[in-house]
Amino acid sequence: MYSIIRFLLFLFNPETAHHIAMKSLRVADFFGLLSLIPSSSNGRSRIVFGIEFKNPVGLAAGLDKNAEYIDCLARLGFGFIEVGTLTPRPQPGNPKPRSFRLTKERGIINRFGFNNIGIDKAILNIQRSKYKGVLGINIGKNFDTPIEAAINDYITCFRKAYDYATYIVINISSPNTKNLRRLQEEDFFEDLIRAIKLEQSALVKKYNKYVPFLVKISPDGEVNELDNIVRLLLKYNIDGVIATNTTLARDGIPQSDFRNEVGGLSGQPLRLRALKTQKYLYKGLKGKVPIIGVGGIMNASDGEERINEGAELIQIYSGLIFKGYRLIHELCERTKQ
Ligand SMILES: Cc1cc2nc3c(=O)[nH]c(=O)nc-3n(C[C@H](O)[C@H](O)[C@H](O)COP(=O)(O)O)c2cc1C
Repeated sequence: MYSIIRFLLFLFNPETAHHIAMKSLRVADFFGLLSLIPSSSNGRSRIVFGIEFKNPVGLAAGLDKNAEYIDCLARLGFGFIEVGTLTPRPQPGNPKPRSFRLTKERGIINRFGFNNIGIDKAILNIQRSKYKGVLGINIGKNFDTPIEAAINDYITCFRKAYDYATYIVINISSPNTKNLRRLQEEDFFEDLIRAIKLEQSALVKKYNKYVPFLVKISPDGEVNELDNIVRLLLKYNIDGVIATNTTLARDGIPQSDFRNEVGGLSGQPLRLRALKTQKYLYKGLKGKVPIIGVGGIMNASDGEERINEGAELIQIYSGLIFKGYRLIHELCERTKQ
């Protein structure tokens, strides 16, 4: 069934296909068709950073940037859903075209640049949704906020997201916002996580609940940058880390017409690089900071490998585009033990 849907969707450019797919999902939900999808609650539930997940397979950030489709996406069987990246103010993102499908290589190159309706409107969408499961809110900075003032953007979003998120993700690894990845550098990184930790302590008192925060990192960091990240995650007792975002590298796509397009590459060509980053982190963190593994999980074995290599949970984006919701069920089944 999904191969027919995919064939039709792939006739359009990726951004148009995305809009058609999401609107169709909503219509299918309205007519009750999504309830025909067998539940994947047969996945193994687990508790990670104090949160109970009904299964370990989540939706990665970027697919539902504005938190508009949470209810329908939840019906596909995810154990958790992450929305965003959201910024303090709305912004249009980069000019189109900004997304490229590498069909043969099963990858995507995107340079969206955090197009989103802004955190306030997205929170209204979250308030309107009926979803009661685990919801991650992924936050970033506006493109025109100088890097020296980035902390303010994160703190603004963190405060606004706090009461609506089950966990919050500090995205400092998108390659499509100028200088954003500089926040992974030692000094910026320490200032940022220290400030957010302080804010978290204040908000725990205000709302009388603890909302964990995670840091999402890039697969392109040098060893010394990763070593610093590991050291600081441990020093500040950070709740978790997501490995990884998209890559600027072009490994494994020598033939693609799109290889020279600027942007972050995801899907199959990212798999080894994301896995390597995750393994390196796991070695340093020694299980003290839980990892969500993401990047190039395109089949059940890829997901199983990430769990075996230290991830407590996994997320998918490109795999969902290329394989459909069946992948969620296959991953739940394979990661049951
Ligand atoms: C079109 C597209 C948009 C994305 N937007 C975001 C985003 O806004 N924030 C974010 O943290 N990651 C974003 N990502 C990265 C994904 O969340 C994920 O980390 C990455 O794609 C690797 O997973 P995959 O190989 O399963 O796609 C985006 C990815 C794609 C393909």
